[in-house]
Amino acid sequence: MKKSEITKQYLQKVKLINKFNKFYFDKNKSLVSDKVYDDLKKEIMMLESSHIFLSSKNSPSKVVGHRPSKSFKKASHKIPMLSLSNAFSEEDLINFEKKITNFLSKKEGFKILYSAEPKIDGISASLTYKNGHLVRGLSRGDGKEGEDITNNLTTIKDIPKIISSKGFPEEIDIRGEVFIQNSDFEFLKDKFANPRNAASGSLRQKNPEDTKKIPLNFIAYTFGFQKGLEVENQSDYLKKLKEWGFKINPLNKLISGVKDLINNYDEIEKKRADLDFDIDGIVYKVNDFALQKRLGNVANAPRWAIAHKFSSNKAVSQIKDIEIQIGRTGALTPVAKIKPINIGGVQVSNATLHNEDEIIRKDIRIGDTVTVERAGDVIPHILSVDLKKRKRNNLKFIFPEKCPSCGSKTIKEYNLITKKNDAVRRCSSEGYFCEKISVEKLKHFVSKDAFNIDGFGKKIVESFWKLKLVQFPQDIFKLDYNKIENLEGWGKLSVENLKYSINEKKNISLERLIYSLGIRHIGLENAKLLSKYFVSFTNFKNLSKKNNYDELLNIDGIGETQINSVKNFFSIPINLEVLNELEKLLNIKKSKNEEKNGLLKGKSFLVTGKLDGISRAEVKSLIEENSGTTVSSVSKKLNYLITGEKPTKKKIESAKALKIKIIDQDEFLKMLNKTS
Ligand code: IVH
Repeated sequence: MKKSEITKQYLQKVKLINKFNKFYFDKNKSLVSDKVYDDLKKEIMMLESSHIFLSSKNSPSKVVGHRPSKSFKKASHKIPMLSLSNAFSEEDLINFEKKITNFLSKKEGFKILYSAEPKIDGISASLTYKNGHLVRGLSRGDGKEGEDITNNLTTIKDIPKIISSKGFPEEIDIRGEVFIQNSDFEFLKDKFANPRNAASGSLRQKNPEDTKKIPLNFIAYTFGFQKGLEVENQSDYLKKLKEWGFKINPLNKLISGVKDLINNYDEIEKKRADLDFDIDGIVYKVNDFALQKRLGNVANAPRWAIAHKFSSNKAVSQIKDIEIQIGRTGALTPVAKIKPINIGGVQVSNATLHNEDEIIRKDIRIGDTVTVERAGDVIPHILSVDLKKRKRNNLKFIFPEKCPSCGSKTIKEYNLITKKNDAVRRCSSEGYFCEKISVEKLKHFVSKDAFNIDGFGKKIVESFWKLKLVQFPQDIFKLDYNKIENLEGWGKLSVENLKYSINEKKNISLERLIYSLGIRHIGLENAKLLSKYFVSFTNFKNLSKKNNYDELLNIDGIGETQINSVKNFFSIPINLEVLNELEKLLNIKKSKNEEKNGLLKGKSFLVTGKLDGISRAEVKSLIEENSGTTVSSVSKKLNYLITGEKPTKKKIESAKALKIKIIDQDEFLKMLNKTS
């Protein structure tokens, strides 16, 4: 082979491995299996050792932080590592506090003390100590299961290996953030996009000696499982952490009231640039552990904490064009194409205009000079128009009456609940008729919380669609791999990997499957509720035969909006065909009703009227915690009707007619061995 040909092939391989690295570190995604990655790395090394003229500064032989060659052992967190909901404005904080007071059934003005902790943008880790000895360290992973990175974590000087303080719990998972200081990052700038990725790369080295090379720090802030921890609130816990030898954030504070939270936020935001670590907001936690316990969690975030993100990265630019994007549910979203501008280190060229009403409200026109804001991880949007700079020929934007993709009429639906027309205009076509909607549906189908097919991202969906390789979800499981192998950019290995990832996902839970169908208003939570109710795919599919959608009203959490949407979904023949095809190709696991043996096992409840000192939401979570269920109407399926002040007469009458037990708040609490 000619020298130039060898060099070309070598550089291609180096480029490919760096693409894999980039995805791995920046997006936390493996594009290929460990074996493929290792083979590629070996090939590069072999080429380098047999041809002296080959060299690249990006070769895995030169780069410090590269992907580990083998995955780490996985292990479960005894208590899941949750994430946090975000707040961006004062209004969000007011709502956060309101929700807490409502949940706890307290009057407005009830004083809540918060632990306000600057949110370090690093990698979280959970350290298990037994009898004062560090026995294991896990990464967050998906929150339920992390990677065992004990050996790498023990190289961090801030992490005590033995703690002999008196009163240290018998067992505890101490959780905190691993990060790299900005001053140390200076030397790694060429290799990683930001300090967070550098920390992540360092933590994932297979050889702890490599981890040691990149100086990591650890700041502790919470705990998971514990036995023998004797503190009653977060601020005392933070003090204890310090006594035990951990570093804690020097800017942590105890604050109450939204006004003071904002003052502290403003103060810290000003200091932000001078700190030697990256922070991306402030975490507020209800300080009292007893209240935290009552508040509990929603999905995967606690009700008692929120991350107040720094935002306000603004810049002025000009709108060059307005494009209409079409989403999975047919929503037409206007997007402003702006003159590219750097906002807080990120190049921005698109800004969402949300919907037709927003364009009218802010009178946004092509050619206008506008202020664009990029807040946290959300899509940039337009704050305001500089009317002084508006030219005469900047005409009002006319929203299309026909779908730009399929030509169907666009409509604004009437919302039964708000009694208003929706702000969003939608393509009125159904099923897979509109090309743009279909592509978006497929993207959703393979996305992270749905089928989560490794290496089958949005770009692949688009390219396979264009090539007519996929049109409906089932086509993904019937791909013509021979054809793909001959496409540009594909080869034997990558096709093998794709095939492997797709086959791996043929075993799917009912919950994920329902979510992946992309039925409007059926997100993760509702898909979970439906799968628990139907248990098997057949039951779910037969809903269309039984045509009794009202039975869904029995599911607490599912309302009329969701039912109408499910009904509409089943009324479209192509959707039924998709379900039939998927049934043939997949192994859909039955939903397991968690076998919990709580005090209320097998019992269902409904509340009517106002209870004393306890909100509906708290009653619901108490029931669920104790293995009971809640329903939303009186039917034969109901076991107990809990009555409070001013109950609905009709509910009591129907309960009496059906001989359902009617109990009051005290009787209910007694069932849980509690008193009010
Ligand atoms: S508490 C249930 N405290 O933020 C509470 N998290 O989006 C969850 N983080 O994964 C964690 N500083 O990596 C907590 N003082 C702090 C934090 C903090 C940074 C990170 C952490 C977590 C993420 C949540």
